[in-house]
Amino acid sequence: MKVLVALILLAQLPIHQAVPAAPPPPPLGCDDPEAEAAAALAVNYINDHSHHGYKFALNRIENVRVLPQGPNNQVLFLELDLLETKCHILNPIPLENCTVRSFEEHAVEGDCDVKLQNLDGKLSVVASKCHSHADSAEDVIRVCPDCPLLETLNNTEVLTGVAAALNEHNGKTAGAYLKLLEIGRARIQYHPVHLVFVEFAVAATNCSAEEGKNNVDACQLLPEDESNFGFCTATIATQPTLDAQVDCQLYGHQPGVTYSQPGQDTSAGLLPNVQGFTNHNLRLSHNNPVASESSSSEFPSPAIAAKSVAKRAAVEAAQHDKAVRPVGFAPPPPPCPGRIHYFKI
Ligand SMILES: *[C@@H]1O[C@H](CO)[C@@H](O)[C@H](O)[C@H]1NC(C)=O
Ligand SMILES: *[C@@H]1O[C@H](CO)[C@@H](O)[C@H](O)[C@H]1NC(C)=O
Ligand SMILES: *[C@@H]1O[C@H](CO)[C@@H](O)[C@H](O)[C@H]1NC(C)=O
Repeated sequence: MKVLVALILLAQLPIHQAVPAAPPPPPLGCDDPEAEAAAALAVNYINDHSHHGYKFALNRIENVRVLPQGPNNQVLFLELDLLETKCHILNPIPLENCTVRSFEEHAVEGDCDVKLQNLDGKLSVVASKCHSHADSAEDVIRVCPDCPLLETLNNTEVLTGVAAALNEHNGKTAGAYLKLLEIGRARIQYHPVHLVFVEFAVAATNCSAEEGKNNVDACQLLPEDESNFGFCTATIATQPTLDAQVDCQLYGHQPGVTYSQPGQDTSAGLLPNVQGFTNHNLRLSHNNPVASESSSSEFPSPAIAAKSVAKRAAVEAAQHDKAVRPVGFAPPPPPCPGRIHYFKI
């Protein structure tokens, strides 16, 4: 029955298409260069407008919809799968140079809806709506039973480890005394030795390490026009004694780059909204509901809606009953979702 309906719809398609003077362009496929270009712009926008955590890279274009608005004016809706990279958002190196976090490191995935406008050939982002979450522990364990897993950012061992690591750095550096901005991620290994792996963002204060040791309260983060952010990775052993190996890198002053935090207190490195979570959620920086096609006021014109129904029916017909398919009818590959750039979660 479904097949019959599909065939009837298909048979009618040319008639429908013959009516308008300028037929709508063929639907954009998720791997089309145009979709890729829009996704690249969207991902840069998402990273530029994120306030916490890491930069994300495109893993897959899940869906793309183009809605003509008038001459030389289109709205695009993208659904994107992203993966966390190793670059903190304060890291100035371009996204292309940022390594995607491996599956074994307990990957974090982002899901984003992005609305863009293409006006006279100029593409711009209108709105973004995202959330991000860590892969399930079961997934990681299945592939890598001994891999340390992400721990909640307010875990006591994590907090102790970060404090020990920063203390270790400040105790030996010849540079500025560093203060904690935020903990980015933390994992704990239980076998064969108990180890805590942490990553955290820091900022230089106006104190030398020596001055900081003597009177930490007098050390202030540098003012905006001199700010100097950085990032540390550390491995902390807790047994038999607390021992921290830490590596910190300062990025140098980046004009215009600020770090926003609700309170002035940078001692804890934990915003209230990450308490109990293993990652900074993209939702906190990207929550515009207009970004989703479903909740947007832009509805497809009837012609496009009919076309997409027919397209879906054609794909279904091809998938469900190959025997009925007329000889020589080669269905086009489904245009979405697109290829996976890194790995599937
Ligand atoms: C980024 O990668 C490119 C190509 O590998 C390289 O030429 C460039 O120097 C890198 N840039 C930075 C800032 O690391
Ligand atoms: C750092 O700045 C604070 C506030 O401006 C000031 O009180 C303090 O003396 C400065 N510390 C150093 C070592 O310059
Ligand atoms: C972390 O935060 C959550 C949510 O606020 C809380 O339930 C939990 O007890 C906290 N864990 C620790 C170790 O403080």
